[in-house]
Amino acid sequence: MITTDILDFEFHYFKEFDICGPDIAAKFCTFLQENYPTNRYHKALEYCSGNGAIGFKLLRQGLVEDLTLSDVNRQLEETINKTSQSNDWQEVSRFIESELLSDIPQQQFDLFVCNPPWRSFMLPGPITEIDKLKHFDFDWKLHRQMYDSIDSYIGYKSDVFMIEDHRHSTPEFWNTFIKHKNLSIKQVYDFEFETTRKNGESHLLDTCYIMHIKKT
Ligand SMILES: C[S@@+](CC[C@H](N)C(=O)[O-])C[C@H]1O[C@@H](n2cnc3c(N)ncnc32)[C@H](O)[C@@H]1O
Repeated sequence: MITTDILDFEFHYFKEFDICGPDIAAKFCTFLQENYPTNRYHKALEYCSGNGAIGFKLLRQGLVEDLTLSDVNRQLEETINKTSQSNDWQEVSRFIESELLSDIPQQQFDLFVCNPPWRSFMLPGPITEIDKLKHFDFDWKLHRQMYDSIDSYIGYKSDVFMIEDHRHSTPEFWNTFIKHKNLSIKQVYDFEFETTRKNGESHLLDTCYIMHIKKT
Protein backbone atom coordinates (compact mmCIF):
# COMPACT_ATOMS: atom_id res chain seq x y z
CA MET A 1 0.00 0.00 0.00
CA ILE A 2 1.29 3.45 -0.92
CA THR A 3 0.60 6.57 1.13
CA THR A 4 0.79 10.01 -0.43
CA ASP A 5 -0.19 13.58 0.35
CA ILE A 6 -0.34 14.75 -3.29
CA LEU A 7 -4.06 15.37 -2.86
CA ASP A 8 -3.53 17.53 0.22
CA PHE A 9 -4.70 14.82 2.60
CA GLU A 10 -3.43 11.38 3.56
CA PHE A 11 -4.40 9.15 0.63
CA HIS A 12 -3.69 5.42 0.50
CA TYR A 13 -3.71 3.35 -2.65
CA PHE A 14 -2.64 0.04 -4.10
CA LYS A 15 -0.39 0.60 -7.09
CA GLU A 16 -1.86 -2.30 -9.06
CA PHE A 17 -5.39 -0.84 -8.75
CA ASP A 18 -4.27 2.70 -9.42
CA ILE A 19 -5.52 4.47 -12.55
CA CYS A 20 -5.45 8.17 -13.19
CA GLY A 21 -7.81 9.06 -10.32
CA PRO A 22 -5.13 10.80 -8.22
CA ASP A 23 -4.09 12.82 -11.30
CA ILE A 24 -7.66 13.72 -12.17
CA ALA A 25 -9.00 14.44 -8.67
CA ALA A 26 -7.75 17.98 -8.02
CA LYS A 27 -8.46 19.11 -11.58
CA PHE A 28 -11.94 17.65 -11.40
CA CYS A 29 -12.64 19.76 -8.29
CA THR A 30 -11.31 22.87 -10.07
CA PHE A 31 -13.47 22.00 -13.08
CA LEU A 32 -16.57 21.86 -10.85
CA GLN A 33 -15.70 25.07 -9.02
CA GLU A 34 -15.10 26.95 -12.29
CA ASN A 35 -18.12 25.67 -14.21
CA TYR A 36 -20.61 25.19 -11.38
CA PRO A 37 -19.38 27.65 -8.74
CA THR A 38 -22.45 27.48 -6.54
CA ASN A 39 -22.88 23.70 -6.59
CA ARG A 40 -22.47 21.83 -3.31
CA TYR A 41 -23.63 18.26 -2.98
CA HIS A 42 -25.15 16.49 -0.02
CA LYS A 43 -24.80 12.87 -1.14
CA ALA A 44 -22.24 11.84 -3.74
CA LEU A 45 -21.47 8.51 -5.33
CA GLU A 46 -18.17 7.81 -7.04
CA TYR A 47 -18.96 4.75 -9.10
CA CYS A 48 -16.07 2.56 -10.36
CA SER A 49 -14.15 4.38 -7.65
CA GLY A 50 -10.87 2.49 -7.62
CA ASN A 51 -9.03 3.80 -4.55
CA GLY A 52 -11.49 6.72 -4.36
CA ALA A 53 -9.21 9.65 -5.20
CA ILE A 54 -11.83 11.74 -6.97
CA GLY A 55 -14.49 11.25 -4.32
CA PHE A 56 -12.15 11.84 -1.39
CA LYS A 57 -10.82 15.02 -2.98
CA LEU A 58 -14.40 16.30 -3.42
CA LEU A 59 -14.94 15.62 0.29
CA ARG A 60 -11.67 17.32 1.22
CA GLN A 61 -12.61 20.43 -0.77
CA GLY A 62 -16.00 20.63 0.93
CA LEU A 63 -17.84 20.13 -2.38
CA VAL A 64 -19.67 17.08 -1.02
CA GLU A 65 -20.87 16.32 2.50
CA ASP A 66 -21.35 12.58 2.28
CA LEU A 67 -19.50 10.17 0.02
CA THR A 68 -20.16 6.63 -1.14
CA LEU A 69 -17.42 4.87 -3.09
CA SER A 70 -18.27 1.74 -5.01
CA ASP A 71 -16.27 -0.73 -7.04
CA VAL A 72 -16.45 -4.41 -7.92
CA ASN A 73 -12.95 -4.99 -6.54
CA ARG A 74 -13.34 -5.85 -2.84
CA GLN A 75 -9.63 -5.40 -2.13
CA LEU A 76 -10.11 -1.65 -2.44
CA GLU A 77 -11.96 -1.65 0.86
CA GLU A 78 -8.62 -1.76 2.66
CA THR A 79 -7.15 1.41 1.14
CA ILE A 80 -10.47 3.23 1.21
CA ASN A 81 -11.01 2.47 4.90
CA LYS A 82 -7.46 3.53 5.65
CA THR A 83 -7.87 6.88 3.86
CA SER A 84 -11.17 7.35 5.62
CA GLN A 85 -9.70 6.63 9.08
CA SER A 86 -6.55 8.70 8.51
CA ASN A 87 -8.68 11.75 7.76
CA ASP A 88 -11.42 11.06 10.30
CA TRP A 89 -14.02 10.60 7.54
CA GLN A 90 -15.57 7.37 8.84
CA GLU A 91 -18.91 9.07 9.52
CA VAL A 92 -19.15 10.66 6.09
CA SER A 93 -17.68 8.08 3.72
CA ARG A 94 -18.07 4.39 3.03
CA PHE A 95 -17.13 1.71 0.49
CA ILE A 96 -19.68 -0.58 -1.09
CA GLU A 97 -18.41 -3.55 -3.02
CA SER A 98 -20.77 -3.88 -5.93
CA GLU A 99 -20.87 -5.53 -9.30
CA LEU A 100 -22.36 -2.71 -11.36
CA LEU A 101 -24.94 -0.83 -9.26
CA SER A 102 -26.62 -4.00 -8.00
CA ASP A 103 -25.43 -3.96 -4.36
CA ILE A 104 -25.79 -0.25 -3.76
CA PRO A 105 -28.88 0.20 -1.57
CA GLN A 106 -31.63 2.24 -3.18
CA GLN A 107 -31.18 5.93 -2.36
CA GLN A 108 -30.80 9.18 -4.28
CA PHE A 109 -27.45 10.81 -4.90
CA ASP A 110 -27.28 14.43 -5.96
CA LEU A 111 -23.84 13.87 -7.48
CA PHE A 112 -22.83 10.80 -9.46
CA VAL A 113 -19.26 10.83 -10.76
CA CYS A 114 -17.55 8.06 -12.64
CA ASN A 115 -14.26 7.44 -14.37
CA PRO A 116 -15.17 4.08 -15.92
CA PRO A 117 -13.10 1.71 -18.04
CA TRP A 118 -12.68 3.53 -21.34
CA ARG A 119 -12.19 0.81 -23.92
CA SER A 120 -14.80 -1.54 -25.33
CA PHE A 121 -12.44 -3.93 -27.06
CA MET A 122 -9.42 -5.97 -26.13
CA LEU A 123 -5.88 -4.94 -27.04
CA PRO A 124 -3.61 -7.59 -28.56
CA GLY A 125 -1.24 -9.34 -26.19
CA PRO A 126 -1.49 -10.78 -22.69
CA ILE A 127 -3.43 -8.84 -20.12
CA THR A 128 -4.02 -9.41 -16.40
CA GLU A 129 -7.47 -9.73 -14.84
CA ILE A 130 -6.88 -6.48 -12.94
CA ASP A 131 -5.96 -4.62 -16.13
CA LYS A 132 -9.11 -5.97 -17.76
CA LEU A 133 -11.18 -4.57 -14.88
CA LYS A 134 -9.46 -1.21 -14.97
CA HIS A 135 -9.42 -0.61 -18.71
CA PHE A 136 -12.01 -2.69 -20.56
CA ASP A 137 -15.74 -2.57 -20.74
CA PHE A 138 -16.39 -5.23 -23.34
CA ASP A 139 -19.16 -4.31 -25.71
CA TRP A 140 -19.92 -1.42 -23.28
CA LYS A 141 -21.71 -3.87 -20.97
CA LEU A 142 -20.86 -1.89 -17.83
CA HIS A 143 -21.93 1.42 -19.37
CA ARG A 144 -25.08 -0.17 -20.80
CA GLN A 145 -26.17 -1.63 -17.46
CA MET A 146 -25.19 1.50 -15.56
CA TYR A 147 -27.28 3.75 -17.81
CA ASP A 148 -30.15 1.24 -17.57
CA SER A 149 -30.23 1.34 -13.77
CA ILE A 150 -28.97 4.83 -12.86
CA ASP A 151 -32.48 6.27 -13.02
CA SER A 152 -33.49 5.08 -9.54
CA TYR A 153 -30.33 6.56 -7.93
CA ILE A 154 -30.70 10.12 -9.21
CA GLY A 155 -33.33 12.85 -9.18
CA TYR A 156 -34.05 15.59 -11.72
CA LYS A 157 -31.71 17.96 -9.90
CA SER A 158 -28.84 15.47 -9.67
CA ASP A 159 -25.68 15.95 -11.68
CA VAL A 160 -24.00 13.02 -13.39
CA PHE A 161 -20.42 13.53 -14.59
CA MET A 162 -18.88 10.83 -16.75
CA ILE A 163 -15.18 11.02 -17.59
CA GLU A 164 -14.45 9.41 -20.96
CA ASP A 165 -11.66 9.29 -23.50
CA HIS A 166 -11.82 10.68 -27.06
CA ARG A 167 -9.63 7.87 -28.32
CA HIS A 168 -12.27 5.27 -27.47
CA SER A 169 -15.67 6.94 -27.62
CA THR A 170 -17.42 10.15 -28.59
CA PRO A 171 -20.18 12.21 -26.95
CA GLU A 172 -22.27 11.62 -30.11
CA PHE A 173 -22.02 7.88 -29.54
CA TRP A 174 -23.16 8.22 -25.89
CA ASN A 175 -25.96 10.52 -26.97
CA THR A 176 -27.55 7.83 -29.10
CA PHE A 177 -26.76 5.32 -26.36
CA ILE A 178 -28.68 7.13 -23.60
CA LYS A 179 -31.40 9.07 -25.38
CA HIS A 180 -34.09 6.43 -24.71
CA LYS A 181 -33.15 6.15 -21.05
CA ASN A 182 -34.60 9.42 -19.68
CA LEU A 183 -31.13 10.94 -19.67
CA SER A 184 -29.59 13.69 -21.72
CA ILE A 185 -26.14 15.16 -22.16
CA LYS A 186 -26.32 18.81 -21.15
CA GLN A 187 -22.71 19.77 -21.76
CA VAL A 188 -19.42 18.26 -22.86
CA TYR A 189 -16.08 19.61 -21.65
CA ASP A 190 -12.58 18.80 -22.81
CA PHE A 191 -10.52 17.82 -19.82
CA GLU A 192 -6.73 17.74 -19.67
CA PHE A 193 -4.67 16.47 -16.81
CA GLU A 194 -1.02 15.87 -16.16
CA THR A 195 0.50 12.84 -14.58
CA THR A 196 3.95 12.65 -13.10
CA ARG A 197 3.50 9.54 -11.01
CA LYS A 198 3.80 6.83 -13.62
CA ASN A 199 7.25 7.43 -15.05
CA GLY A 200 8.51 10.40 -13.09
CA GLU A 201 8.19 12.64 -16.13
CA SER A 202 5.41 15.10 -16.61
CA HIS A 203 3.28 14.39 -19.66
CA LEU A 204 -0.03 15.73 -20.78
CA LEU A 205 -2.96 13.47 -21.61
CA ASP A 206 -5.28 15.58 -23.69
CA THR A 207 -7.89 13.13 -24.81
CA CYS A 208 -10.41 13.09 -21.97
CA TYR A 209 -13.81 14.67 -21.95
CA ILE A 210 -16.40 15.09 -19.25
CA MET A 211 -20.09 14.70 -20.01
CA HIS A 212 -22.59 16.42 -17.76
CA ILE A 213 -25.72 14.30 -17.86
CA LYS A 214 -29.14 15.05 -16.36
CA LYS A 215 -32.27 13.01 -15.86
CA THR A 216 -35.03 14.24 -18.18
C1 LIG B 1 -10.71 3.30 -15.08
S1 LIG B 1 -10.78 2.58 -13.45
C2 LIG B 1 -11.13 4.05 -12.52
C3 LIG B 1 -10.73 3.99 -11.07
C4 LIG B 1 -10.80 5.35 -10.37
N1 LIG B 1 -12.11 5.97 -10.50
C5 LIG B 1 -9.74 6.29 -10.89
O1 LIG B 1 -10.09 7.23 -11.58
O2 LIG B 1 -8.57 6.04 -10.60
C6 LIG B 1 -12.26 1.69 -13.55
C7 LIG B 1 -12.72 1.02 -12.25
O3 LIG B 1 -13.94 0.33 -12.56
C8 LIG B 1 -14.02 -0.85 -11.76
N2 LIG B 1 -14.96 -1.78 -12.39
C9 LIG B 1 -14.73 -2.52 -13.51
N3 LIG B 1 -15.80 -3.29 -13.78
C10 LIG B 1 -16.72 -3.02 -12.81
C11 LIG B 1 -18.05 -3.52 -12.55
N4 LIG B 1 -18.60 -4.45 -13.32
N5 LIG B 1 -18.72 -3.01 -11.48
C12 LIG B 1 -18.15 -2.07 -10.70
N6 LIG B 1 -16.90 -1.58 -10.88
C13 LIG B 1 -16.20 -2.05 -11.93
C14 LIG B 1 -12.58 -1.34 -11.73
O4 LIG B 1 -12.34 -2.20 -10.64
C15 LIG B 1 -11.79 -0.02 -11.66
O5 LIG B 1 -11.47 0.32 -10.33
